[in-house]
Amino acid sequence: MGAWTLDDIPWHRFDAAKLDPELVAIVKAASLVEHNGTAYAHHLCRVFADDPEFQEAARRWGEEEVQHGRALARWAALADPGFDFDAAFARFQAGFRVDFNSDRSRRGSRAGEMVARCVVEIGTSSYYSAMREAAAEPVLREICRHIAADELRHYRLFSKNLDRYLARERIGRAGRLRVALGRIAESEDDELAYAYYAANENDRPYDRRHCNRAYARRAYALYRPHHIERGVAMLLKAAGLKPNGRLGLIAGRLAWQAMRYRAARLAKAAA
Ligand SMILES: [Fe+2]
Ligand SMILES: [Fe+2]
Repeated sequence: MGAWTLDDIPWHRFDAAKLDPELVAIVKAASLVEHNGTAYAHHLCRVFADDPEFQEAARRWGEEEVQHGRALARWAALADPGFDFDAAFARFQAGFRVDFNSDRSRRGSRAGEMVARCVVEIGTSSYYSAMREAAAEPVLREICRHIAADELRHYRLFSKNLDRYLARERIGRAGRLRVALGRIAESEDDELAYAYYAANENDRPYDRRHCNRAYARRAYALYRPHHIERGVAMLLKAAGLKPNGRLGLIAGRLAWQAMRYRAARLAKAAA
């Protein structure tokens, strides 16, 4: 487990007057995705069946993700006493199905799997940093601070193991970049949209486009340039490219413009 537990969160400081309903909706969705960590750890243990050291780290990682889910769910229940986490998680698991039993990485190689894991942890560490800075409610800020620190540590774990597997598998920069971009594109797939649905909209049928936009509109609004620029620098590094040169600067700025454009369009469409 990580260096903190739910007992370290100052729940008594919860301040309902500082709640933002838009944040409550995406925290509920995030609690479901995080709580599914055990399933992905199980998949990693199958893909890396002959690497007991990494399996051990993956199991610990999965437990930490589940703890993120628990902390967010407990906060969401304070923010919205009508939130039934168990029922929402059951809906999420029933509707969002991935083959976690497969023993092959869908990234084509084990180094590719590590690249994809790095991308996810870069995404979550940026997301919870952005959420902490955007939130006014003190308990949520504290939870996000703990989670963002864990996500950064998770990135380092996968990055270290990526180096180890690159020494054996030698996928080039183009291959790494392809996996990284592919994984980023997947962030608009079903997982987050379905989690948003299962957590917030159980009274109507699932509409993927609607839920995707509902989630993304609230999530993208949290980011500021420094979150995106830092995330892009980490991504370039995971792909084997130099994060600190001209490329990093240009990629960071372009990514921020793209994010701002998309956030503005989503906000306009919802207005
Ligand atoms: Fe997490
Ligand atoms: Fe993580």
